Amino acid sequence: MTAEVRLTPDSPAACVADVLVVGLRRPPGGEAGRPSAPVALEGSDLPANLLARLVESLARLGATGAVDETTRLPAPDGVTAATVLAVGIGARDPADPETLRRAAGAAARALAGTGSAAFALAGTDAPASRAAVLEGALIGAYSFDAYRSTPKPPLGAVVLPGTDPADGEATAMASRAGTIAAAVHQARDWVNTPASDLPPAELASRLEVAARAAGLDVRVLDEVQLDAQGYGGILGVGRGSANPPRLVRIAYRPEGARAHLAVVGKGITFDTGGLSLKPTDAMTTMKSDMSGAAAAGAAVLAAAELGLPVAVTVYAALAENMPSGFATRPSDVLRMYGGTTVEVLNTDAEGRLVMADALVRAAEDSPDLLVDVATLTGACVVALGNRVAGVMSDDDATREQVTRAAAAAGEALWPLPIPEEMRAKLDSAVADLANIGDRFGGALQAAAFLRAFVPDGVRWAHLDIAGPAFNSDKPFGYTPKGGTGFAVRTLLALAESLA
Ligand code: BES
Ligand code: MN
Ligand code: ZN
Repeated sequence: MTAEVRLTPDSPAACVADVLVVGLRRPPGGEAGRPSAPVALEGSDLPANLLARLVESLARLGATGAVDETTRLPAPDGVTAATVLAVGIGARDPADPETLRRAAGAAARALAGTGSAAFALAGTDAPASRAAVLEGALIGAYSFDAYRSTPKPPLGAVVLPGTDPADGEATAMASRAGTIAAAVHQARDWVNTPASDLPPAELASRLEVAARAAGLDVRVLDEVQLDAQGYGGILGVGRGSANPPRLVRIAYRPEGARAHLAVVGKGITFDTGGLSLKPTDAMTTMKSDMSGAAAAGAAVLAAAELGLPVAVTVYAALAENMPSGFATRPSDVLRMYGGTTVEVLNTDAEGRLVMADALVRAAEDSPDLLVDVATLTGACVVALGNRVAGVMSDDDATREQVTRAAAAAGEALWPLPIPEEMRAKLDSAVADLANIGDRFGGALQAAAFLRAFVPDGVRWAHLDIAGPAFNSDKPFGYTPKGGTGFAVRTLLALAESLA
């Protein structure tokens, strides 16, 4: 459940909430690690004398204004809320929406278990900033409690002062932020659910139930239908598991759609590596290997809820990659959907196999733009770290369009090339191509593999989200430990940009 949103015309100081959230900046030039006097954010609609008193108290408490630092103190006279929470933004630009999303998210995380908090990080004169604050607060107010004996509830309500609840623009902004946050939370929930409780058939049925409830067209191919229609990639990956694979297709078709976006998501519900078994430590986070499918599914549901005037078709390619007596062997050859043959030299390079089938199928729908989202390679994590995703395309304009959408949404994408020589590394001695090349440029090789399955004339971009899909480190900004919901907001922004 996403936190409740309360719009109130009251000023930040007067509005009714348990906590008042303000922002603190570390003045530029302040030395990292050394406390320096915090500076209150401008434009927060708080009286100057009150801000000055707060800053004074915060400085005495040792607040520095560093990014994600939170400091709680009793509210000064003149503030209705009982306490104030100050959240640092460091030297980041306070006018950048992503600065505000992250600060609001960090505050919301620090306020887990609190009933309500009023956010005064941006003034009423900056609607885009206020939207960012609300979005960040809602996205940050998350907890995954399904498996806890004692739940840890997130922040219950986000109060936005200085907002007329009768103002149509304000309520539309609030409802949009709520939809986006709920979609991010939905993707996180699916990723965080243990693989034992979310095998391909179960994830398919959860996607199906949600899509039907939203009035969308949904079809699920089971293993018998996949076999009859020649989906050799998905079947080859799923063979080793007792839990059979699925291919889910969800179609959102609004009246008067101005464009058609197709999204293919990697949905490996658990990646052991198969017979090319992963080492112990590399396997522990592999319930997250369906993050692409989760993001794609959550995004199409949100696109429908927002009523975006763009047709969206999502394919979730679902399989569990397990070793067994039925498993695909290194050197086996698979016949993919559409007829291309692939020699499987490493069963741990399974994502590209399920994606290839789904890409060929998705192209049959003749979309204007085809985007795939996958936790595809460890090499991409080595290249870009675990907070930045790679974006690859054979078309510069398409790659830039996706990068721009991500920037607008506040997700970090960085372009990687698909050099021509990558394709030759995938030559096979027995089949049309092999599923692995050499040790160098693994993310680029994977992209070159996928490109071989995108028909000429189809605009295509590939997102490798292996790094940012799952956070094994400490929480930061609005991002919790575990599933992050990465790519949901980029996909939505992309759909909006097509409209
Ligand atoms: N699911 C993994 C990629 C991955 C690694 C995701 C780390 C998230 C974190 C993928 O299926 C995989 O195993 N890729 C191999 C490819 C290799 C065998 C060519 C890899 O990256 O090692
Ligand atoms: Mn793998
Ligand atoms: Zn994988």
